[in-house]
Parts: sequence; C-alpha cells; structure tokens
Amino acid sequence: MRRTRATTPRRPAKRRGPSRSILAAMTALAREARERARAPYSRFKVGAALKSRTGEIVTGCNIENASYGLTMCAERVAVFKAVSEGLDDFDVVAVVADSKRLTPPCGPCRQILWEHCGDVLVHMADLKGRSRSIRLRELLPMPFDGASLGSASRGNAR
Ligand code: THU
Repeated sequence: MRRTRATTPRRPAKRRGPSRSILAAMTALAREARERARAPYSRFKVGAALKSRTGEIVTGCNIENASYGLTMCAERVAVFKAVSEGLDDFDVVAVVADSKRLTPPCGPCRQILWEHCGDVLVHMADLKGRSRSIRLRELLPMPFDGASLGSASRGNAR
C-alpha cells in the first residue's frame, strides 16, 4: 500500500532572502558610492549596490549632466557596470539616499533592472538607518519585456 503524508499540511517553500548582514554590507557600499555622486543640479545624491548570486557586489552613483536628460541614475550605473563586467544572475539591489521618504528606483531604472536582473529584492535605505525591502515585481507589476515582444526571452536574458 502506498503511504501518503496527507496528514502533514504542506507549507509553501520558504523563499530565503539575503541575510541581514548582507543587506547591511550592501547598504554600506551603496552609501559609500553615494558620496561619489555627481549631483550639482539636483543636489540629490543616490548610491546603489547590486549583488550577483555568486556574491560579487557592484556599486553605482548618480551622474548628472548640464544637459539634464543625460543624467544617469545610480541603479543604472550599477547595472551597466555589472553587466559590462560579465556578471549576471543578480538577487539584490540596495539603494541609498538622504530623503524624508525612502527612495525607490525610478520608472526607467525599474525597467532596466527587470530586463537585466529579473525579480530582485530592492532594499531601500536612508542615512538615518531606516530601510525597507520590496521585490521588483511589486514595483513593476506588469512589465514590458522580451516576452511582450514574442521572443523566447523572458527578462534577464541576453
Ligand atoms: N536618481 C537616482 O540616481 N536614482 C533613483 O532611483 C531616483 C533618482 C537621481 C537622478 C538625479 O540625478 C537625482 O536623483 C534627482 O532626480
């Protein structure tokens, strides 16, 4: 007779996130990167740190331009640096700014993060030690990506 384990209710598999110490280390790196921001026009400095599942962490800061539209956000700098260095398969991005409300990635950065990093954990922190983590999927609930184009790729693809 086959025995089933119907009596023990199945719990949904726990999705293990990054440890607190990893988030703290990433926040510290993003904070350092923030100091390197070039933000003479907005005076709003942002730092980011992007982690691959293999443990490499790449940082970025916002870099503004007198032709404002050329400004590059901290998150995108981190993504482009990381991808151009050959990294992929990312799981967390930390974003640090000094503002009343925690700073989430802007719309274009959400799109870029989705394309190259997939459903990463977005860890937002400020200089006072406040923080909050949220999945990118929640910030970008109906993404436009390779699947929308009908290609075989579904985000995070080359
Ligand atoms: N900025 C970022 O670097 N990341 C964000 O998620 C929001 C905005 C930068 C762009 C610009 O240099 C300044 O913050 C003000 O918008």
